[in-house]
Amino acid sequence: MHEEELMKEFDLFRISEGRFRISLTTTCNARCWFCHNEGSVPPVQIDGKNGLRHKMHTCSTEEYITLVETLIDLGISRLYFTGGEPLISPKLEPILDSIPLHGKDQFKVILATNGVLLKKKLDSLKSKHIDKLKISLHAFSDESMWNIEKISSVDEVKASIVQAKQIFPEIEINTLLMPENQHENMDIIQFVRDLQIDIEILELVWTDYNRPTYTEKRISTYDLAKDLIHQGGREYINKSGIGVNLKMIDFENCSVRLMDNSLGSSYVGTCQMCPVKSSCVEGFWSIRVDPEGFAQPCLLRSDLRIDLKPLIREPKKLKEFIPLWIGSFMKGVEFSGTGSKERIR
Ligand SMILES: C[S@@+](CC[C@H](N)C(=O)[O-])C[C@H]1O[C@@H](n2cnc3c(N)ncnc32)[C@H](O)[C@@H]1O
Ligand code: SF4
Repeated sequence: MHEEELMKEFDLFRISEGRFRISLTTTCNARCWFCHNEGSVPPVQIDGKNGLRHKMHTCSTEEYITLVETLIDLGISRLYFTGGEPLISPKLEPILDSIPLHGKDQFKVILATNGVLLKKKLDSLKSKHIDKLKISLHAFSDESMWNIEKISSVDEVKASIVQAKQIFPEIEINTLLMPENQHENMDIIQFVRDLQIDIEILELVWTDYNRPTYTEKRISTYDLAKDLIHQGGREYINKSGIGVNLKMIDFENCSVRLMDNSLGSSYVGTCQMCPVKSSCVEGFWSIRVDPEGFAQPCLLRSDLRIDLKPLIREPKKLKEFIPLWIGSFMKGVEFSGTGSKERIR
C-alpha cells in the first residue's frame, strides 16, 4: 500500500473531525456501574482481590505534552482530555498550560469531567485554553447519583455547571440513559434548557465489563426523542461521517443530541473483518491514548494497542507514524511501520 493512499485516509480522519481521547488517569472519584473507562478496566471493577488493576501511570507530563504538540502539528482538530477523572490528575494543568492560544477553527481542546471536583478547580482552569467542557450529569438527585456513581454531590455538580457557563466558551452535558435515571431525565433536560446549554443523551455502549447487565440496562433514546418533539423540539439527523450518527432535537438556545443505535455508525476498512463488530456501538471515531502511553484505534480492540512512548522520544518519527498507522486502520491493511508492535487485522 502506497504511503500516499494511507495519507489520504488519514486526511479523511482529520477532515471528519476524528478525535484523540487522551486519558490522563484510569482512576476516578466515582464508581459508575456502566463505565467503559476508555478501554481500560472500569474503576468499579477493581476491588484489590480479583486481580484486575488500573493502568500504570507511566506516561510523563512531558511525554503527554510532546504527544499533544505533535497532534496539533498534524492537524488533529479535536483533542479530548479524559480519564478516569482527569480533574484528579496532577498532569492535567501543566499539559493544558502547554497548549497555545488558538482559534476553534484550528483545533478544539475539550475536557471531559464528572464535575465532582469542578468547583474547586474552576479558578485555576479559567486561565487555560479550553474550548469546551463536557460535564457528565446522569442524575438529578443525590439518591440516583449514588445508585449510579457511588458518590452523592449532585447539588455541587449543578452549581459548578452554572458557574462554568459563565467562564468557558462552550459547555455540554453528557447524560447516559439507564433505568436508574429514567424518572429524572426530563428534569435534567429542563435544567440545561433553562441554562441554554447543549446536552448529549447517550445510549449504553457495550463492553466486555458491562456484558452481564447490558441487555437489561440498555435503553433506547427513541421514546425520549418522541417526547421532546412533542414539546416543540425540531428534529433532524446528523451524519457526521465518523462515529455514531446522532438525532438532533433543537429548541430555542439549546440542542439535545441523542445517540441512537438504530441510526448506525461509521465503520472503516479494519471494521469489516473485526471479530467484535456485532457488539460495536460506537463505530470508528476516536483514537484512545492511555496513561501507559499506548494508543488503540477503538474502544473494544485493546489487542491492537501500540506503544507510542518510544516514538514520543523521537517526535519526528511519531509525526510520521501516526498518519500511516491511522490510515492503515481505516484502509484495513496490515501496518508494518516503525514502533508498531501489533498488526492491523
Ligand atoms: C469514561 S468518562 C471519563 C470522564 C469523566 N470521568 C466523566 O465521567 O465524564 C467519559 C464519558 O464516557 C461516558 N461513558 C462511560 N461509560 C460509558 C458506556 N458504557 N456507555 C456510554 N457512555 C459511557 C461517561 O458517561 C462520560 O460522559
Ligand atoms: S465518573 Fe467517568 S471515569 Fe469515573 S467511573 Fe464514572 S464514567 Fe468512569
